[in-house]
Amino acid sequence: MYYTNISSIILNWYDQNKRNLPWRLSQDPYKIWLSEVMLQQTRVETVIPYYENWLNHHPTLGSVVDAELDSLLKIWEGLGYYSRCRNFYSAVKKVQKEYGGVIPDDFVAFRSLPGVGEYIAGAVMSIAFEKPFVALDGNLSRVMFRILGIKRKSNRNKGRVKKHLTELVGITRPGDINQALMDLGSSLCRSKVAECAQCPLNISCKAFQSGNSLGYPEKTSVKQIPVKKIAAALFENENKILISKRPEQGLLGGLWELPNAEIGYGKSPEESLSANLHKQFGFEVKVGNNMGKINHAFTHFKMNVSLYRCSLGNTSISEPKAKWVSKAELQHYAFSKANHKLFGLMTKKNV
Ligand code: ADE
Repeated sequence: MYYTNISSIILNWYDQNKRNLPWRLSQDPYKIWLSEVMLQQTRVETVIPYYENWLNHHPTLGSVVDAELDSLLKIWEGLGYYSRCRNFYSAVKKVQKEYGGVIPDDFVAFRSLPGVGEYIAGAVMSIAFEKPFVALDGNLSRVMFRILGIKRKSNRNKGRVKKHLTELVGITRPGDINQALMDLGSSLCRSKVAECAQCPLNISCKAFQSGNSLGYPEKTSVKQIPVKKIAAALFENENKILISKRPEQGLLGGLWELPNAEIGYGKSPEESLSANLHKQFGFEVKVGNNMGKINHAFTHFKMNVSLYRCSLGNTSISEPKAKWVSKAELQHYAFSKANHKLFGLMTKKNV
């Protein structure tokens, strides 16, 4: 009875207030899966143009199967967390090979695809296939902690939240229940602002009844994040510059960049650059003037990158790890945001 009431209140609210988002116009599991991959770790407003642009290039799963990873990374350029794109590509290929191009509607089978975790599996199963699975993201979790009046984010309490939400999605319209709670979490029930007077669930919400909604759940202390110092090299030869490709695995895998090195503890940028580029590529490097510095933040660390004009000794460049490209050609390669900031610095210095 309790859940039936809550379910109908939430669905009513959703039917009248749901955000008009492009992935909500379709039940196509490929589109919903793509949207959830993009939305993990990234804000809705940022995702929308990327989602639309991707679908303009690849309206179907079959079209992704036939694409090259480099061209997909180019579409993903700027969205961050590039392993999502690589995993999505591998997973799509697997769907083609093992399931004849039909996305499995079985939780366990879908969950075993590359890059598909509990969250994405629950979201796709519930939204695309109307199956009663939870899609517990950060917003939704906060809403549930507040409704249930649970303060501490212990594993036991996370389990309680999941159990209650499972009851709720088991009643009807699981995908809409998940998305309605996400919408509540990003509008009326935000982390630092709770507009409880307008919330359809206020009378059922224990946090509201306590008079201190924002106290639920308790904030966990934020860890200090480390700062990495990097030196990057600008090699110019006539109208071309030298770019290198990051290994396929790991941070920013498969993206292009200006050759660079982390500055070792107690080492100068010059020493670190020349030693490291020699080790990575066999380059003989002469490091010249500093052209300036950019800052960039990832979730787990920040970095500052100083750019140096460099010249190469008598070194031959071995493609495909590194190559000379003209400035006009740069647009065909996918670079990280930090690298685009370095390009901005180069433009300022008239390179
Ligand atoms: N965040 C993650 N998935 C979402 C969805 N389906 N709708 C809105 N925000 C989301």
